[in-house]
Amino acid sequence: MEVFDAIKGRRCVRKFKKKEIPEEVLYNVLEAARWAPSSGNLQNTRLLIIKDKAKKEFIVKEALGQTFIADAPVVLIVCSDTDIIKRHYDERGEKLYAIQNTAAAIQNILLAAYNQGLAGSWIGAFKEVRLRKKFEIPDKIDIHAIIPLGYPVEHPYAPARIPLSDILYFKKWGKIKAAKDLFPLSESGPRIAKHAARKAKKTAKKLKKKIKRK
Ligand SMILES: Cc1cc2nc3c(=O)[nH]c(=O)nc-3n(C[C@H](O)[C@H](O)[C@H](O)COP(=O)(O)O)c2cc1C
Repeated sequence: MEVFDAIKGRRCVRKFKKKEIPEEVLYNVLEAARWAPSSGNLQNTRLLIIKDKAKKEFIVKEALGQTFIADAPVVLIVCSDTDIIKRHYDERGEKLYAIQNTAAAIQNILLAAYNQGLAGSWIGAFKEVRLRKKFEIPDKIDIHAIIPLGYPVEHPYAPARIPLSDILYFKKWGKIKAAKDLFPLSESGPRIAKHAARKAKKTAKKLKKKIKRK
């Protein structure tokens, strides 16, 4: 799969098949996390793999009742050993780099999953305290995210993105005119978005039919 297709086609999926994830497929996903960039290459990301049904139900409770988490065959708890980063980069390392490093690993995980026909979701809404206790995560380790992973039942529409011209400034903050001059294509953003929405609708219809047939 082309990288750009993966970046655009990946969705946060909240419905999973019961199908297990083969070891080699999961391995590739975890490898993608390992190869994420990190500040000073300090690699502070740590991953906890949960497959047990009761433990997944526990996570659901701590994640504001997001029940789909328990339907995924594999749930990853993404953590950061922030101490290493703090030692090298002080407060900036602790407050910024540690989080950015794990975020890069999370995106790699989601893209590698999508590339292999899996899907995942980036879950940030959860309470840390009881998760820490249940899974014996030491106090010095930060818990950053939960990722349910599995084979998708749904192919959700792409939530719209704001046009490029709305997020770009040129030469100095607030200067947007030059962006339009330099990237005339960004003007066709809404047209492209409509085309993508139509395509996603068609794919979703096809998928629904396929699921019904099964
Ligand atoms: C930091 C962060 C926290 C998120 N937390 C949740 C969450 O708790 N539950 C959820 O269903 N989705 C969560 N999401 C997923 C977003 O809702 C999703 O990425 C966004 O709507 C765009 O959709 P897409 O990922 O399919 O493109 C989170 C995403 C990020 C980056």
